[in-house]
Amino acid sequence: MNYSLGAMHQFAQANMGNSEVTKDNFVPSFSIKKSTYLMCAPDHFEVSYVINPWMAGNVAHADHTIAQQQWNVLVSEISSIANVQRINAKVGVPDLVFTANGGVVRGNKVVLSRFRHVERQAEEIHFEQWFTAHGFEVLKLAPDLPFEGAGDALLDRHDDLMWFGHGHRSDLACAEPLARMLEVEVQPLRLVDPRFYHLDTCFCPLEGGEVMYFPDAFDAASQAVIADRVPAHRRVIVSAEDALDFACNSVNCGAHIFLNRASKALVSSLVQRGYTVHQTPLTEFLKAGGAAKCLTLKLNEPVSMVEQMTLASEKPAICG
Ligand code: ARG
Repeated sequence: MNYSLGAMHQFAQANMGNSEVTKDNFVPSFSIKKSTYLMCAPDHFEVSYVINPWMAGNVAHADHTIAQQQWNVLVSEISSIANVQRINAKVGVPDLVFTANGGVVRGNKVVLSRFRHVERQAEEIHFEQWFTAHGFEVLKLAPDLPFEGAGDALLDRHDDLMWFGHGHRSDLACAEPLARMLEVEVQPLRLVDPRFYHLDTCFCPLEGGEVMYFPDAFDAASQAVIADRVPAHRRVIVSAEDALDFACNSVNCGAHIFLNRASKALVSSLVQRGYTVHQTPLTEFLKAGGAAKCLTLKLNEPVSMVEQMTLASEKPAICG
């Protein structure tokens, strides 16, 4: 079952016909628009509670100095090709550093998160204040619907489609209101392995139109949905070893991919597809169950593939 918004597709189709750029002649989508990411310094980062399997046994075990260094390297690498905006760290909300969970952005709209676990609920007001102060149209789901933002809601880079992970944190019932609020088709995927509790821990749409993912994190029906919607040549299957190193938790900006660690085989398969892979160790954040992608939230997501394609058609395939 998926949730689509007919009007959005008609609009996209109409524009597609008027444009010189079509899905057939366009190589998606190393856009010229410089990406902007929201990040939060790990000033108050620590593993202080256990809400996912990675945190078990790691309470108080994150090294603050190393975390700071690792985060600084990630920021400087991303800053070389993209903009980084910051939300101030706050005492008492150590996981605020994982800005991917603040909400999900599309165009000028943001749907705010409602955290499943009480430990993270105090973050909600900080994200709401930040988005309001920065001119976003702030939208909220019903109070009883857990939703963890861009941890579970990821825009495809080939089709006008939002992939939506549920089963651990976000509630399946968010799919329909998300589709309505963000005017995009939403495709739910059921997550079944507690180690891969957010969609962005095991699934990553890439700007060349591929999806990089770890199949065993999904139930059989969802694996079939992915195989049905994404042709084999655009599926990058990640091994358990790479998935456990958070390789799927990548920040992909144009032809660049930033991640904690990847095997030679995965790096070479990405290089063959035209990507440059930047391995930037994030061991201290893995102790909390997050890595590169979790530490960022893309703030300038295109409203449609038409916008993305038009932008990309104006200049060659380099981000930034
Ligand atoms: N400790 C955090 C939690 O369990 C980690 C969040 C990681 N974020 C992500 N987008 N996967 O909620």
